[in-house]
Formats: sequence, structure tokens, C-alpha cells
Amino acid sequence: MEHRSGLASSPSSPPSPATPATGSASTPRSTHRLELSAPPGDADLVSGLLAGLVSFGWEEQGADDVEPIPGDAGASPPDGRTRFVVHCDDPAFLQGVADRVRSLAPNVEAALDEVPATDWLAAWKVFFEPVSCGGRFVVLPPWRADEEGFEGRTRVLVEPGGAFGTGHHATTALVLAAISDLLDAGGITPQDRFLDLGTGSGILAIACCTQGLQGLALDVDPVAVDNARANAALNGVTGLRVESGSLELAQGPYDLVLANILAGPLIAMAADIVALLAADGRLVLSGILSRQAGEVEAAYGRQGLGPARIVTEGEWVALVWEGGRHVH
Ligand SMILES: C[S@@+](CC[C@H](N)C(=O)[O-])C[C@H]1O[C@@H](n2cnc3c(N)ncnc32)[C@H](O)[C@@H]1O
Repeated sequence: MEHRSGLASSPSSPPSPATPATGSASTPRSTHRLELSAPPGDADLVSGLLAGLVSFGWEEQGADDVEPIPGDAGASPPDGRTRFVVHCDDPAFLQGVADRVRSLAPNVEAALDEVPATDWLAAWKVFFEPVSCGGRFVVLPPWRADEEGFEGRTRVLVEPGGAFGTGHHATTALVLAAISDLLDAGGITPQDRFLDLGTGSGILAIACCTQGLQGLALDVDPVAVDNARANAALNGVTGLRVESGSLELAQGPYDLVLANILAGPLIAMAADIVALLAADGRLVLSGILSRQAGEVEAAYGRQGLGPARIVTEGEWVALVWEGGRHVH
């Protein structure tokens, strides 16, 4: 079983009414669970749709996985099907997700149930394994903060609080690797100033601050802002401001701009993002499917950036500009 996080919806979309399940062991109550069972040919499509529809994450169990979801009596799905599970307090939101998926993939089976809220938190704890990202970082949940075996890596602690960004999703891991590489190559230095647009759990901004950089983390989702602030405190980082909002709050120039959002919004914001870059600033964009890379790179090329370095993990890519603005 893989515990994956979803990507945020486009900022031009209406705000999602959904909140992730938020039960606690001391105050048990119920939440809702949507289970989607996809035949082999539809699994990638469902994964891509959830990336656009569910900002707070889902669980994914492939045909070869054997570990059950804690508290779930269901067996592994037969016939090579992939099972996706989304927990949320709002059944109408989950019904909307199910309807959207089934309108595009009618062979996907959908089941919506009411379940104890504690299942969701238990799943997070069981499946949040420490994950090494790039050459410099290891991301751990606070309850495994002191785990041994990560010598030479900087620990980034993330308390999952409903926001995206535990390091397990390729889009996050690609940016952490890019930050490591830029620091190793001297492309960014500990004195530099950064902007993290769409900070989610704060993971990228916190990683930067552990390396001495200072910056601003922004998110349009108040759940993410609370989670990022809590995680910044948990890591004891200094030099980080976390604010609720978007580009209107940014005041460039920044030596480094990070944005792990989605291809559509990244294209729409190209001019504004490039305008925030210092003359020799570095830019890392993520949340981009490999087939979208050319379109995103072209949009930023029209704003004066040269070719990007493209780094890939699975179906996802990140675009890294190391030469700053006005480079052709
Ligand atoms: C895919 S998550 C990335 C989280 C984290 N930076 C990481 O790399 O794991 C995208 C985040 O961007 C936020 N977001 C989406 N559009 C935004 C915008 N226009 N301005 C600021 N935040 C935005 C979402 O609320 C979400 O928390």
C-alpha cells in the first residue's frame, strides 16, 4: 500500500468545500470514505483525476500490494484492480469526486461509506515512513524524529495536518532534490532569500530554512497555512514567514522561487512568477506531468527564461531554471 498525497486544484477553481477527516482518538466520531476500484487500464486516469480534485491526499493500493488499511477488513482487490481511498468529513464532496471519476471512467467502481474518523489518523501514522529526498534531506513524522540511520542528512519534521507535503509524493521529492542540487552546486547559498508559493505543509520552505535561507511561504488554503506554521515551529526554524495568500503578498526579487502547484496555474502565473525572480535567481516548478513539461517551459520561455533542466520521477517532472531571467 502506498500512501499518496493529492495535488491542489487550480486557483481558478471554486474553493473546495471539503476538509480532510479530522477525528482524534480522544473524541471519536465518524467521517466518510470513498473507495474507487479501477481496472488496470484506468488506474493512471484515476490517479491523475484525484491529483486535480483532492488537495489533502488519498491512499492507493495496487494489485501487488498486500498490506491492508488498518481497521479495514476488506481484502486486497482481485483482478489487477487498483483501489483508491479518500477520507473526508463531507460526503457531498466525495460524491462529487465519485461522479467526476465515473463520468470519465465508467468502469471504475465507487463506494461511499461512513467510517470511524480514527481510521484515517491511524492510516497516516502507520504509513508515514521516513523518506530521504535529494542528497540532503530526510523527512520524518515527529513521532519518529530520533530514528537512526540517516547520518549526514538534515531532518525535516512534518506533522501531517491535512495539507499536502510529506515528501512521499514525487512532486515534493523532486523539489527537495533540486534544492539539494542547487546548494551543492552553489547556485543558491545560505544567505539567499526564497519564495515558496503553495507551501502546503511548509516542507519545502522548512527545508530551505534548515540550510540557512530565509523566506516567505504562501498558501491560499488556511488549513495549509496553519499546518505550515505548526511545522515551522516544530522544526525550530527561523527566518520563515508563513502567510495566507498568493502572489499579491510576494515582494521580490527572490534568489529562489519554488512552486509545486499544477501545470495550468503555473502557466497562468508565469509572468508574475518570473517578475519576482532576481536577475540571477533560480526557479523550480513542480506538479507537472511529463506530457505537460513542454507547454510549461514554453510559457516561461515567453517571459525571458532559457531552457529548463528537467528532472523526472515516474510520470511527474520538475523544471529547474538555474540561469535566472533573460537567459536565451
Ligand atoms: C501540491 S501542494 C504543494 C505543497 C508543498 N509545497 C509540497 O511541495 O509538497 C500545492 C499547494 O499550493 C496551494 N496553492 C494552489 N494554488 C495556489 C496559489 N495560486 N497561490 C498560493 N497557493 C496555492 C494549495 O493550497 C496547496 O497547498
